Amino acid sequence: MTGSGLQLSAEYRRDSSWVATPRPRLSWVFTQAPPGWSQAAAELRLNDDRMEQINGPLNVFVGWPFEDLVARETYQVQVRLQGTDGIWTAWSDPLDIRLGTLGPGEWQARFSALTAPRQEAQPFIIRHRFLLDRKPARATLYWSALGAVKARIDGVEVDDSVLAPGWTSYADRVLHETTDVTALLEPGWRTIGLEVTGGWYTEVYGFADEARRVYGEQPCAAAQLHLLFDDGSEEIIASGDDWETTEGGEVVASGIYEGETIDHRRSLRWWDPQEGDWEAAAVAPDQPVPVARMNEPVRRVDTLAPVKVSSSAAGTILDFGQNLVGRLRIEVQGEPGTRIEIRHAEVLEDGELATRPLRRAAATDTFILSGTGTEVFEPVGTFHGFRYAEISGYPGEVDPERVQAIVLQSDLRRTGWLETSNPLLNQLHENIVWSMRGNFLSLPTDCPQRDERLGWTGDVQIFAPTAATLFDCNGFLANWLVDLRAEQDRAGGVVPNIVPNVFGFAWPAAAWGDAATVIPTVLAERFADDDLLTKSLDSMKAWVSSELAAAGGPGLWETTLQFGDWLDPDAPADMAGAAKTQPGLVATAYLYRSLDLLSKAAAHLGEDESAARARESADDVRAAFAAAYLTSEGRLVSDAPTAYALALQFGLIQGLSTREALARRLAHVIKRDAYHISTGFIGTPLVLDALTDFGYDSHAAALLLQTRCPSWLYPVTMGATTVWERWDSMLPDGSVNPGEMTSFNHYALGAVADWMYRRLAGIAPAAPGYSLIRFAPIALPGLDHATATVDTPAGRVEGGWRREKGAILWKLTVPAHATAAVRLPGLELEVGPGVHEWTTTEPTRTTAASVHMWSPVSEVVDNPEAFATVMKVLASHDGHLAEMVRRRTDWTLSTPLQIALFSVPPHVINQIAKELDA
Ligand code: BGC
Repeated sequence: MTGSGLQLSAEYRRDSSWVATPRPRLSWVFTQAPPGWSQAAAELRLNDDRMEQINGPLNVFVGWPFEDLVARETYQVQVRLQGTDGIWTAWSDPLDIRLGTLGPGEWQARFSALTAPRQEAQPFIIRHRFLLDRKPARATLYWSALGAVKARIDGVEVDDSVLAPGWTSYADRVLHETTDVTALLEPGWRTIGLEVTGGWYTEVYGFADEARRVYGEQPCAAAQLHLLFDDGSEEIIASGDDWETTEGGEVVASGIYEGETIDHRRSLRWWDPQEGDWEAAAVAPDQPVPVARMNEPVRRVDTLAPVKVSSSAAGTILDFGQNLVGRLRIEVQGEPGTRIEIRHAEVLEDGELATRPLRRAAATDTFILSGTGTEVFEPVGTFHGFRYAEISGYPGEVDPERVQAIVLQSDLRRTGWLETSNPLLNQLHENIVWSMRGNFLSLPTDCPQRDERLGWTGDVQIFAPTAATLFDCNGFLANWLVDLRAEQDRAGGVVPNIVPNVFGFAWPAAAWGDAATVIPTVLAERFADDDLLTKSLDSMKAWVSSELAAAGGPGLWETTLQFGDWLDPDAPADMAGAAKTQPGLVATAYLYRSLDLLSKAAAHLGEDESAARARESADDVRAAFAAAYLTSEGRLVSDAPTAYALALQFGLIQGLSTREALARRLAHVIKRDAYHISTGFIGTPLVLDALTDFGYDSHAAALLLQTRCPSWLYPVTMGATTVWERWDSMLPDGSVNPGEMTSFNHYALGAVADWMYRRLAGIAPAAPGYSLIRFAPIALPGLDHATATVDTPAGRVEGGWRREKGAILWKLTVPAHATAAVRLPGLELEVGPGVHEWTTTEPTRTTAASVHMWSPVSEVVDNPEAFATVMKVLASHDGHLAEMVRRRTDWTLSTPLQIALFSVPPHVINQIAKELDA
């Protein structure tokens, strides 16, 4: 960037110069624009000779204005901008761009494997020695696998990717990596090779007895090296049956769920021709033509040291202080044949690893020492979700200084930061970031630790707006959507509940399949990715058709199996779908939502007829929804927060007075539950918006800042460092929820972060890519300040507020490529780029009335201190009774506390009375 203050980037990647399209769209941000500056035109320069001018303010996904890129060539692109004042900026630093795809017919490499593998999912090495008689001017390596691969030339790793090329819907496409290896190719004998494990390809997927290797029993891999010499001649070296393979390497067994066994007695310097027993490679029966990666690979993104060491029955437990996704790297010295075993878990129970939640995933790594000095182990083909690792068999005492946790993630660029005056809320935000880290690994997964780690569509549909704020996940999700579309095609238009669909079957489930309409919309809104919306339109239409077919037309959708408001806190531990909100209501709401989004997308893309048709069906669904679920008094038949939040936020109910009645009822039921969260996956991302859109800020505050179970902050008080799958994955007594499905790293309930950025700090997109920002933050009761920073396509936005001596100071930084609509108490205006500050007076807050035994419970619950006192005394007497009173009582009633506590023993009542008086 340097002097010009211009940041230029090419489609989807900032971590590499390789792009996956010959016409990469370009984006730029002017970070040093003077106040009031705006872009009138841009000039793009290619390789110092070609120039193109683009008029207007567009700075995001600008179409490639030059000829198609040629594979492997390096291009240098620069941009400079003209302000509306006519003045040009300096040229940006040159951006290197290279086309990572191969031309048609250029892929020659054969996917190859072992001839006679000893076991299923057998790790192996494939290599090739060749004589290079002169130094190539340029050498490009393409490599791929149905499995996971590390590529090396003469022992040197060609890049820093991990588990490459990642998991895709293998029947439709497999990715190839592209790497410049010129620096590794001096004249002489060279050995190129791939170390292959089964990775996701050979994994055993499915539940219980149904589990099987869905894709294949053995991994295979392919590579092709393109050499360009100074005289312009080219040579291609491609894998096939003239390459050699061996299963004699140090990786003895490897599986994503299982873990990995590495035996250093079998270490091979395989690039040394003398080492190993080799046989000709067998060309694999499947010969896909791989396609170039379009987004960031998985990399090692962080390293953590243990913070605590303890002993268990079997060994030493290391606590990394953070629930993370990755694996250990250990350094050790010992006798040959020494076996070290490492088991992983997210939490401890009674001082031991709690491994029950991992179900079928053994998540165990075994390292066997060669006894040759200091040895370093790190698995290559697996990852685990863990905070604790138990090491057994270590020679002598475990030296924590020689053990590290390596954090893995698709290497996305962080874009969102948030801070408030409440440390618990800050920790919640941090937990959400860590859950995204751990579950954005090659594809968006539900969880990273047990025998699932699958691309559940519902989870990411719910989380997408938050994801798009915390990290630049545009390319990551665009890549996954390619698989979604392919899997959807295979399922006749139905979006499967998981992508890639290793279950093989699909049925239309609301909120899960709606990933097809919601995610492209979110990416168009947050990143201005219109191309992706265009590519997604058929998929959106096909999904909506499947929904309509399942519903029997544009009306209620009550006919097919649903997940519903998954993990409603009131559902029994073993019945995650038994929610308070009727599944048909949820499904009908989502049917409307998808029709609405389809209609908007079609209109945006100029398909007016499709837009009108979808709108018409949407209106029918809306009418059916109101007719079936809305009562004449302005309530819904499922009198639960999720129902109200859906009706309000999806726009299912129109008419201001009815909407206000619904919002009032929502606030009522929130208070009825004493401000404890009462929504599952579906209602959780919507409930705070539904409250604050109608001015129920103190209800929202009470719900968000609640620390008792269930709530967003309860896990934080229990020491959580990631978002849990269930509101009570760990019960208040410290035991693990008995439900069979209990993860401590599931991002779905963390979808609240989107509200925190948009409404608490006030950074909301009001036009694609934040070219228009809506700044309407809420000075939430109970907080002193809140600020956020978001690196948007329009540039860096900073927004927030602070209470100071009876006033509220609001501050917003608008970047060069945006304007903002500001909506503050008593203030409405539009502002341009620059730093803006406003001060408003703080409305006088009514302090909570003091309460006593004869106060109505509706007053008790609105006095947080008094309510806490009541609960504390009850719990100190009998935890179960406290919980029962809390849940049984309708906290909106005028019934006196004394009466509501009718089943509580008199001496406890007396103690409550005494403490309330005090
Ligand atoms: C997953 C969820 C998923 C759900 C759907 C669970 O096993 O972990 O997050 O969405 O199944 O039924």
